[in-house]
Amino acid sequence: MLGEIEAAELNTETALESFRIRFLGTRGILKSFFGSLKDIPAGNRKGYGQQINGLKIAAEEKYAAAKAALNQHETKLEGEDPTLPGTAPPVGSRHPLSIIRSQIIRIFDRLGFTVAEGPEIEDDWHNFTALNMPPDHPARDMQDTFYISRNPDWVLRTHTSSVQVRVMERGKLPIRIICPGRVYRNETVSARANSFFHQVEGLFIDREVSFADLKQTLYHFVHAMFGLEIGIRFRPSYFPFTEPSAEMDITCLICKGKGCPVCKHTGWVEILGCGMVHPRLLENCGIDSKTYSGYAFGMGIERIAMLKYQISDLRLFTENDIRFLRQFSGVS
Ligand code: DAH
Repeated sequence: MLGEIEAAELNTETALESFRIRFLGTRGILKSFFGSLKDIPAGNRKGYGQQINGLKIAAEEKYAAAKAALNQHETKLEGEDPTLPGTAPPVGSRHPLSIIRSQIIRIFDRLGFTVAEGPEIEDDWHNFTALNMPPDHPARDMQDTFYISRNPDWVLRTHTSSVQVRVMERGKLPIRIICPGRVYRNETVSARANSFFHQVEGLFIDREVSFADLKQTLYHFVHAMFGLEIGIRFRPSYFPFTEPSAEMDITCLICKGKGCPVCKHTGWVEILGCGMVHPRLLENCGIDSKTYSGYAFGMGIERIAMLKYQISDLRLFTENDIRFLRQFSGVS
């Protein structure tokens, strides 16, 4: 009986009232116990009386405590207007980098590119040597590399170009892929640089692929991402894995081309590197460079996101400040 009293859940008015009637009411269990006291043999009567008294106290205490708790709850509710709409639970939003990544994938998906992925811990061959950067090649210094002490052959990939090599090595032609992913560089963290960031690599290999194909694809990408009004320019450049190589700039959207710290007061921002895949790369991966040619490009997702959303400090992407992240709710 004591167990039942203690275990009763009295968190509604109805439960409380049935408890009262069952144990403490004029026709309740305890009243009937007291009534039967006279029938108990005189020798046992005292012990029996003490027992039911104990039960009565337990039931009264339980009842009083539950009633007080319920009353308190009600007073709390009284101040509120019950017809007002409830408070919506907080809902998270997508990270801006994840939004931009999906947008890039969607644009290239429509052109027939599929997504390929590779490991973030990469070996020297895929990150450097196969990309026409043998040991001691000066171009290795273009990217400050994190090496892994357990194995001198391993690095944290410095770019997603390593995935190009992995896909070409599989030997299934033609190839039309994009490779989004995280990359690492040993840089001092600032508004413009971080020790890790994200890139999307693109690779197209087929018969008779030309630089004109590359340009048209990238024009289409920029127009789909930023609109038709944006200025685009190509500049000759150098990458060991492409020949010829170029970099592509677009109008700085932070200052609308007027000049600001982000575009170093030029009005233009570089958004990607690209070029025709160097024949040596094709041969490194077992592809006949006389029959096949291709183009490749690589862009930073942070850079695209900064221009698209007018964000001038790279660190905001990784600080997880809810006031920053909340601004992207509802964007997909
Ligand atoms: N891997 C280069 C970087 O991280 C970007 C790049 C340039 C990728 C030219 C390419 C390319 O595929 O053709 O800076």
